[in-house]
Amino acid sequence: MEDQLIIEGGSPLYGQVQISGAKNAGLVIMVASILADGVTVLDNIPRIRDVNVILQILNDIGVETSWGEDGSLSICPPSGRLKSRTSYELAKKLRASNLFLGALLGRQKEAVISLPGGCNIGSRPMDLHIKGFQALGVEIEIEHGYIYAQAKKPTGACIYLDFPSVGATENIMMMAAKTPGLTVIENAAKEPEIVDLANFLNSMGAKIRGTGTDVIKIEGVPELKGCHYSIIPDRIEAGTYMVAAAISGGEIFVENVIPTHLHPIIAKLQETGAYVEEAAQGVRVKAGEKILPVDIKTLPYPGFPTDMQAQMMALLSLGEGSSVIVENVFENRFQVVDELKRMGARIKVEGHTAVVEGVKTLYGTRVKATDLRAGAALILSALAARGETVIENAGYIFRGYENIDDKLSKLGAKVKKQ
Ligand code: EPZ
Repeated sequence: MEDQLIIEGGSPLYGQVQISGAKNAGLVIMVASILADGVTVLDNIPRIRDVNVILQILNDIGVETSWGEDGSLSICPPSGRLKSRTSYELAKKLRASNLFLGALLGRQKEAVISLPGGCNIGSRPMDLHIKGFQALGVEIEIEHGYIYAQAKKPTGACIYLDFPSVGATENIMMMAAKTPGLTVIENAAKEPEIVDLANFLNSMGAKIRGTGTDVIKIEGVPELKGCHYSIIPDRIEAGTYMVAAAISGGEIFVENVIPTHLHPIIAKLQETGAYVEEAAQGVRVKAGEKILPVDIKTLPYPGFPTDMQAQMMALLSLGEGSSVIVENVFENRFQVVDELKRMGARIKVEGHTAVVEGVKTLYGTRVKATDLRAGAALILSALAARGETVIENAGYIFRGYENIDDKLSKLGAKVKKQ
């Protein structure tokens, strides 16, 4: 990806930052809106590249979309059938394109989706999605990189997920919302974005209970109506700015968050010696006198989020000792290590475990983003590094962080985009 971010390190960040709507709630809710007859208006959708790609796919299959003056997003599916096949060119740009499978099956009982692309953080199979759809009566063929799915007589079913996959839970929920009968998902994902999707679907008239727990029950309904809905704030964007305060030696008030969504991140940051204080609409983070080493194991929610693992690795690279990070969710999410080592970090990777031996100083140099959160981690290390860092392939970062250069500049960072 093109784009570069150039950051002069050494300035502690101070001030407050407004958190945008959650990428991983917004993307799936935009897709789910095709389940409704009628217009859906969404508030708090972030202006990020992944949202633009989902909009292009929606337009490509025949759905009108438009941004309102007030920043709201209107999604207007037509009354008839949509194109059932998503374009490979667009779908390969992001993993969330696989969510059109559940939404199209729920709306019109057939879908042809190209096997998804997205960040290279692992093989990211779809076996759990497919197992769920087959239980609901879908016939699935996989040929030449496409998934062909058709449901002649879909009916509710009881589905056990071997792993609480976020995408599989969302895909099955979307199809089940309009599939006659009762569907029960056991060992379901419990992320806040799952709860937000269920709240959105229920606002359209769906009958979904139990999200946020291991067991989700969905009673299919014949039709759903468009609605007006505001999505939750982005807990990972919030966590990233919280780490920015800690790593830069500053103090930031992170506004417009849901504190409970941040508890795993708050707990870990406090262990590193940062001061974190929860308020009604935000969280204040002040850097500690030093960065203490901590051990981290990423787990499905409410465990420590894998999407914050790289950011914490950047922080712990400057810790006063050794930290052990175990990545339990993705099989290949340590790409940022080589780039951090170019800045002087001392990190050793053995399989799913990274041992980070803190150093006194990181040095600015040329690095490249390999995926969205690795890119975010490089921004954080650049803020603390001595000298200038040039982050190449910064386009990955703009996939998931709205106006990150402006937000950082307003906090006192010396950052420019080119
Ligand atoms: C969602 O991805 C998020 N993306 C990811 O955020 C996030 O890291 C991930 O959930 C975990 O929280 C969106 O919501 C758009 P999974 P998803 O299915 O749904 C394996 C970011 O940076 N698996 O929960 O793809 C899979 O390989 C992105 O914002 C199977 O084995 O995640 C992975 O190891 C990155 N078979 C693990 O489960 C399946 O059928 C978690 O995947 C499905 C998944």
